[in-house]
Amino acid sequence: MDILLLGSGGRESALAWKISQSPLLGKLYIAPGNGGTTQYGTNVDMSPTDFDAIDKFVTDNGIKMIVVGNEDPLVKGIYDRFADSDILVVGPSRTGAALEGSKDFAKQFMVRHNIPTARYRSFTADNIEEGYRFLEELKPPYVLKADGLAAGKGVLILPTIEEARESLKEMLSGMFGASSATVVIEEFLSGIECSVFVLTDGNDYRVLPVAKDYKRIGEGDTGLNTGGMGAVSPVPFADDSFMEKVRTRIIEPTVKGLASEGITYRGFIFLGLINVEGEPMVIEYNVRMGDPETEAVMLRIDSDLVELMQAAARGNLGDLELRQDPRTAVTVMMVSGGYPGSYEKGKLISGLDKVTQSTVFHAGTKRDTEGNVVTSGGRVLSVSSYGDSIADALANSYASIALIDFDGRYFRRDIGRDLMALQQK
Ligand code: AMP
Ligand code: GLY
Repeated sequence: MDILLLGSGGRESALAWKISQSPLLGKLYIAPGNGGTTQYGTNVDMSPTDFDAIDKFVTDNGIKMIVVGNEDPLVKGIYDRFADSDILVVGPSRTGAALEGSKDFAKQFMVRHNIPTARYRSFTADNIEEGYRFLEELKPPYVLKADGLAAGKGVLILPTIEEARESLKEMLSGMFGASSATVVIEEFLSGIECSVFVLTDGNDYRVLPVAKDYKRIGEGDTGLNTGGMGAVSPVPFADDSFMEKVRTRIIEPTVKGLASEGITYRGFIFLGLINVEGEPMVIEYNVRMGDPETEAVMLRIDSDLVELMQAAARGNLGDLELRQDPRTAVTVMMVSGGYPGSYEKGKLISGLDKVTQSTVFHAGTKRDTEGNVVTSGGRVLSVSSYGDSIADALANSYASIALIDFDGRYFRRDIGRDLMALQQK
């Protein structure tokens, strides 16, 4: 079957890498792709949210399945657009995508289905005074979330009630545009986070390898939030007993809850979890795979991902197995100097051909007029490796990074360090 993959980041590179290994694949197109996705298929200059262009392209090219990398097309209803055609879309309907598109919807869904999550209330400009009173009921720090999509920036964690009040006012007066017209205020949960990915056909589900990502720019999880600086899979604390709780308390009520509410969902569910003294709680839902988690997780899937996605999108996962590779996989992101603030683009990348110990997934790269790979974004390359342990896999990624150069390159040297420390306790 011919497949169209939407997106252009490291996550899409990893998906393209995995899809390209499937014996079921005919042609793979990536829209818009990047300077590295051409290793796995053909880049198409088309926006993932231009549904008219996508419709024409898939019809003209006989594409049978659309795989969606990022949330935007899903929240905008790409599933519904193709629901009456014979083209499969791996993902939720627009209503299902509201699990990510609206934090308020997600919280209400969790409450309806008894899924463990932080205590919360939602506010608009009309009841801001109640919002101030709710803050008084909570202990610091205060968690304020823009209801809608805000490019990963819509969550503020404030140390004092004065700052929380101020931020609530600013958010409700348009700090994130329409996205923060409603604000969710919730209890702060303390613990270590992990990302659990599920592929569902609406009834059955399979659990993918669990990962942990590293969001801050600085070592020791300091500084500004980024789109992700690295990831590790598996996560040692997500052991059998923890995952059994995740399955019974979170995954099953989520999948059953969607079905019981008549919400069509045939794709990936990303559970952002926090381990609060051994008890998993949901921080957030996303309706797609994680970035950079995917750049580690894909290495750990033994089964044919195309076969699994096709079955999920058709609503018949049946007894298809999702086999995991027992090895550890990690990814370390190489970013442009200055990111997540302003940074320069167009830096020549050298050394990619010297790498043998890792798989390098391109994120923010493109080809210049001479065909050289140059930087074109903040997060540039995701350097993924296998190992027998976290330390071993990391040693491979860092050895590969030493071979790759571009002006101003930066990466975190402490990916996985927290998990290794936990293991030694
Ligand atoms: P989100 O955009 O919902 O993933 O939130 C961004 C980050 O904020 C999460 O990955 C957590 O690190 C943090 N966060 C969100 N909600 C909470 C909470 N209730 N308690 C503690 N940290 C949180
Ligand atoms: N790594 C977190 C995300 O993809 O949202």
